[in-house]
Amino acid sequence: MSRLIIVSNRLPVSVARQAESLSFQPSVGGVATGIASLESPKRRLWFGWPGIASDKLSGEHRKQIAAGLQKHGCRPVFLNSVELRDFYFGFSNRTIWPLFHYFTQHTDFNEVYWRAYKKVNEHFCREMEKQIKPGDKIWVHDYQLMLLPGMLRDKHPDAQIGFFLHIPFPSFELLRLLPWRQELLDGLLGADLIGFHEYDYVRHFLSSVYRISGCEPNLSQVMVHNRLVRVDAFPMGIDYPRYADSGKDPEVLKEIKKMQPVDYQRFIISVDRLDYTKGILRRLEAYGWFLRQYPEYRGKVTLIVVAVPSRTKVDAYNDLREEIERSVGHINGEYGTLDWTPISYLYRSLSFPKLTALYAVADVALITPLRDGMNLIAKEFVACQQDKEHPGVLILSEMAGAACELAESIVINPHDKESIAEAIYQALEMPRSERLKRNRMMQRRLSRYTVSHWAADFLASLDAVKNKQQSHGPEPLTGANRKTLLADYRAADKRLIFLDYDGTLVSFVKQPEDAMPDKALLETLKKLLADKANRVIIISGRNRETLTEWFGDLKITLVAEHGAYLRDDDGRWNEQVKPDNEWKEIIRPILELYADRTPGAFIEEKTFSLVWHCRKTEPDLAKLRTQELKDALLAMTTNLNIGVFEGARIVEVKHIGVNKGHAVLPWIGLQKWPFIFVAGDDYTDEDMFAVMPDNAWACKIGSGHSRANYRLNTVRDFRELLNDLAAVKPQPRPKSK
Ligand code: UDP
Ligand code: G6P
Repeated sequence: MSRLIIVSNRLPVSVARQAESLSFQPSVGGVATGIASLESPKRRLWFGWPGIASDKLSGEHRKQIAAGLQKHGCRPVFLNSVELRDFYFGFSNRTIWPLFHYFTQHTDFNEVYWRAYKKVNEHFCREMEKQIKPGDKIWVHDYQLMLLPGMLRDKHPDAQIGFFLHIPFPSFELLRLLPWRQELLDGLLGADLIGFHEYDYVRHFLSSVYRISGCEPNLSQVMVHNRLVRVDAFPMGIDYPRYADSGKDPEVLKEIKKMQPVDYQRFIISVDRLDYTKGILRRLEAYGWFLRQYPEYRGKVTLIVVAVPSRTKVDAYNDLREEIERSVGHINGEYGTLDWTPISYLYRSLSFPKLTALYAVADVALITPLRDGMNLIAKEFVACQQDKEHPGVLILSEMAGAACELAESIVINPHDKESIAEAIYQALEMPRSERLKRNRMMQRRLSRYTVSHWAADFLASLDAVKNKQQSHGPEPLTGANRKTLLADYRAADKRLIFLDYDGTLVSFVKQPEDAMPDKALLETLKKLLADKANRVIIISGRNRETLTEWFGDLKITLVAEHGAYLRDDDGRWNEQVKPDNEWKEIIRPILELYADRTPGAFIEEKTFSLVWHCRKTEPDLAKLRTQELKDALLAMTTNLNIGVFEGARIVEVKHIGVNKGHAVLPWIGLQKWPFIFVAGDDYTDEDMFAVMPDNAWACKIGSGHSRANYRLNTVRDFRELLNDLAAVKPQPRPKSK
């Protein structure tokens, strides 16, 4: 049975230190409270920061923390004060948090923070690595760890990795402000499944991936270096029974009752972490406006504001606290009387029994975030409203993810104080039957899609993606297949090996000229070439000059431009096909027309082809123009000996006789080889796979359908295999008599 490894910055339990002793308390915030309430299966491990700086702890303290957390199935990832300053208070909460919530005025773009963010994500990766075993399912949570999926993928290419973002994913227009947007997206795309609370966030994410990383999504899927990644919405639920059965603590109810100077006093509650995204100031203003507009409610209603201390080292939070307290004082001063205080303000977090009792007795919950990924408090309030005689009413901001599911609440615009005031009035005046009807519908929904359902749904989808990745295309060249391949290799006295370059021997990089072979690759190739039984051929779409520069010193056969040129062991390039390029003059004007009409597009001329590039064009326009250009070309090329091919942001028009399949035929036809191996990753390599004899080992790098009979997921897997082949000792060859 597979293990579930959860990782989030905040653990469900936070450690605090008083003098020499340590205390363990439940953490506050949606991620910790939500996931903590999932049943705790034995085979679950949760990595995270224990909530205290490590340099304030002795070795003995650390041991106690590790032991204390172990009881909750958690492993601490210790962070020191400097890491916390730059990673947690810095990049996480001064850059990503404000930017992703559309608060550009609070966003700090700071290199030092960014470097710390990378370092701490690496630190998490290293801590987890010690524990990860084959078959584990890894689930990474939230914005503090967006680079982690990519880092884990590098170390464990076959791992099953899910990522869930608990905050909004902003539109491309916001994300593009971030200098490190590409790295963040690459980090996220290391996951197999990426989940968000809402479909809008999915749309924003996919559009950013398309515009920034250039990977084109197909519905909710995107191919990343030949690996299928799924992106979907999973609105997080709550532990419904726990809330529905709570809120009855008599002690707490008594305490709240004391705040009720008159029997008919009505309660409105406002509960949040003290955060500028929660709209607390505007809410207070709206409440003041309500008291002004509806004076008959003065003395009959109290707003209980619970502001939970949060990220207190970030200025924006401290400033906000002061403003809130000023505003509370102002309203109480203006409207209060000797026996009535309009706002009761608490700056602290409440225990579960107190919080749920407050939810239960409230007549109205006023939840008005300016932006919120989900907002679990809204759901918890509804779940606690079980009193059929006095069902409470929820007023909810349309900017909270939860508003999609809680449509029977009174949905308001959090900036519009007049309509919030009206909503308060409407809620207080709403007939019981109407309140009951709305409440029942929301209860039904919340009781069905609970947090356990949410997690089960996410993890089942993660399994489904993995299955889809594997069922796509040929068998993996691992396990028994790999053993047979090695045995065949050893047994053969003559071997023919065709290797594609980009996406097979090296990974793709942004600038094609940067994809030069590294030292380790050159060493592997040298070893393969040292075995006289091997004939090794690199067969690429690259031009002669590049291949000569990179491999000129090796005694290796090179094929350039998909077979147009061949450089044999003698080091000289020979043309393989007679250029018949009259067609170029017919086709060129149309490509030029499309380049002129499309900002960022340009034409590249190769000996046997013309390529129209649109990598730098705005993606939606590029898509449209590509389609139009292909249609125009297909109509013109029917009578010419050329083909039109669409690749990654290119349209290539080329001589039909030049392809990798034609290029490999002379070797295959020449003699019978006891061992043939061919590896490639894209559509140009399919031409080689198609002409291979039955005994050939044809390996596709990446997922998806292919004519190859085997597959490996990544360049890294393939390089490992190639190393194993190169490590086979050459067999002594019988001396010729
Ligand atoms: N919460 C808590 N104690 C409090 C106030 C809130 O434990 O005094 C919890 C609350 O039950 C909820 C979480 O903190 O589960 C807040 O989650 P939400 O999604 O509403 O907002 P976030 O803080 O994650 O932005
Ligand atoms: C939000 C974030 C969580 C975070 C929580 C509390 O819910 O999505 O990742 O844990 O706020 O914030 P804190 O900074 O105290 O962890």
